Amino acid sequence: MHHFYKKNGSLFCEQLKLDNLAEKYGTPLYVYSANTFREHYNKLNDTLAPLNPMICFAMKANSNLAVLRTLAKEGAGFDIVSGGELFRVLKAGGKAGKCVFAGVGKTDEEIAYALKEGIYAFHVESYPELEQINRVALKLKKVAPIAARVNPNVDADTHHKITTGTYENKFGIPFEEIPAFYAKASRLAGIKLRGVQVHIGSQITSVKPFAAAAKKMLPLVRTLKAKYGIEYFGMGGGLGIVYDPALESGSAAWWNKQKNPPLTPASYAKAIVPILKPLGLKVLLEPGRFISGNAGVLLAEVVHVKKTAKKNFVIVDAAMNDLIRPAFYESYHQIEPLTAKSGKAISSDVVGPICESGDTFCKNRPLPPLKAGDRVAFLSAGAYGFVMSSQYNSRPRAAELLVDGRKVVVARKRETLDDLIRGERAS
Ligand code: LLP
Repeated sequence: MHHFYKKNGSLFCEQLKLDNLAEKYGTPLYVYSANTFREHYNKLNDTLAPLNPMICFAMKANSNLAVLRTLAKEGAGFDIVSGGELFRVLKAGGKAGKCVFAGVGKTDEEIAYALKEGIYAFHVESYPELEQINRVALKLKKVAPIAARVNPNVDADTHHKITTGTYENKFGIPFEEIPAFYAKASRLAGIKLRGVQVHIGSQITSVKPFAAAAKKMLPLVRTLKAKYGIEYFGMGGGLGIVYDPALESGSAAWWNKQKNPPLTPASYAKAIVPILKPLGLKVLLEPGRFISGNAGVLLAEVVHVKKTAKKNFVIVDAAMNDLIRPAFYESYHQIEPLTAKSGKAISSDVVGPICESGDTFCKNRPLPPLKAGDRVAFLSAGAYGFVMSSQYNSRPRAAELLVDGRKVVVARKRETLDDLIRGERAS
């Protein structure tokens, strides 16, 4: 469910041809679809209506102001992990009162900022952090609303770098310690117990780990509600998306690779609503990738095609500094030419110009024959794309566009050479 599609061989975003946008705004270029953001948010919100949901977009996935404003207008809250993210929410017109603040290492300054702005809750990850928040709150003569982030020790069955809910991970407070943690927190004058939360990982493509976490948490959440009058249970984010079209739901390849049906708002709701509805609590979700992943693409232009005895290297003007996911997680992004290409597919390595072999978007992938000047799109780049980009190799960062129907907003200008040295001095 997104607004990137092919018409007469050309790739479109909403009503605009991506090749025309690349021609006008240059490459590398991120292009986002406003209606995809809206629809993903609303679909999840509507499907989970029986749980009285509060959806806080995990803005670490995409924190462009125009994206945040689009979602804030639909009513979204935000899951933030730094003072910088709260600053962005406020600049975009979002409400602090709809923000939850996660992270294992919040600073005193960040806590004070969030308290002054009046966030909905801190998601607390340790005893030292509980004491720190209490201390900062008392100093400011405020009471900090909190929820403990519980580590339920449930395996999310995803990439090891994005698994967070087992005792091997640095996140959350161990499940068994939660009753004692709430007892202690309830005695602190600077703390108000508002909820309880879990987050088990990211890019989870089966409903099973979510259902397992919800089931495990149920008796504990009931007790906390009865004892402390908490008002919400947070199920975290982590809802996975389809990156590989060969795994598109229902295809034979899909069924071969996985035993479970694909994760959709409906399947997610079917798995968790029956477990959580009897709680009678507001359910808070923090999806990042589900809302933004398929709402954005990265456009690049082919600089050279280099053929060797072994390989067909397609060298493009985007690199690992623009989209690090393939280098970092060996992740898959579908690559599509922006206009129709004829000819037999060639097994190709698509690479960037950075001086590292890791600067590789794909290896030995059958792609239509491409030549210098052709343009391609990396699909599903709307989550953890631009936000993880850098200026490595002194490459100015890409521009970002937000398309809404026929309208285009330059949501972030392309950086210039001067941007590369802003704040530096030679002596
Ligand atoms: N809530 C918490 C507490 C999180 O740590 C995260 C993600 C989310 C929500 C949102 O997860 P999502 O719904 O987007 O899966 N850079 C990696 C993903 C890192 C996720 C970190 N935490 C990637 O590109 O795959």
